[in-house]
Amino acid sequence: MVVVAFVGSPRKGANTDRLVEEILAGATEAGHQIEKVHLTDYALTPIDAVYGSEMDWTDPRQDVADELIERMVEADVVVLGSPVYWFNVSGLLKLFIDRWSLYRRGVERLMDRMAGKKMVVALAMADPHLDYVEVVLAPLREAAKWLEMEWAGEVIASGVSDPGDIENHPQVLSEARELGKSL
Ligand SMILES: Cc1cc2nc3c(=O)[nH]c(=O)nc-3n(C[C@H](O)[C@H](O)[C@H](O)COP(=O)(O)O)c2cc1C
Repeated sequence: MVVVAFVGSPRKGANTDRLVEEILAGATEAGHQIEKVHLTDYALTPIDAVYGSEMDWTDPRQDVADELIERMVEADVVVLGSPVYWFNVSGLLKLFIDRWSLYRRGVERLMDRMAGKKMVVALAMADPHLDYVEVVLAPLREAAKWLEMEWAGEVIASGVSDPGDIENHPQVLSEARELGKSL
């Protein structure tokens, strides 16, 4: 299987990235092909006002978002990694998710391409408490349901702030690796 991960942290090598790396290492051990995309490397722009019932919902810009979505539809498993920012996913990841709405919609529905694929989520957050993490996960769970994808699991690194903090949480890293292996 092909596993593609989208990292929504601007800090390469920091906690989200490290968590995603571990999932991908597990997936590699399980014999899958892996690919990692740092969303910060791409000039993603917000969804434009080019949609509506009169339009075919295909983005005329054909920019980098389409390229990234194409990589997603070619994969079997999608890993979404994000820092928790303001009780939510990062704006970077949200920009990408919003752009899914204009994927060749007049030609084919995204859900026809995504149905049956797996979604995995990795979150890094400074708060050591997990009391509001379901608030962050809920829209992603709904997105997976909407696209008829299978929720294959989540891994949360809480209590991490500076790059490298996650190394103090070996149990979370091992949970991430096991999740990758289980794909
Ligand atoms: C703009 C911003 C908002 C944040 N909001 C939260 C938050 O709501 N809850 C939390 O636990 N941590 C919050 N944090 C801390 C980050 O989640 C934490 O530093 C995490 O390690 C960032 O991921 P990274 O290491 O992959 O960059 C915030 C950090 C930033 C920069």
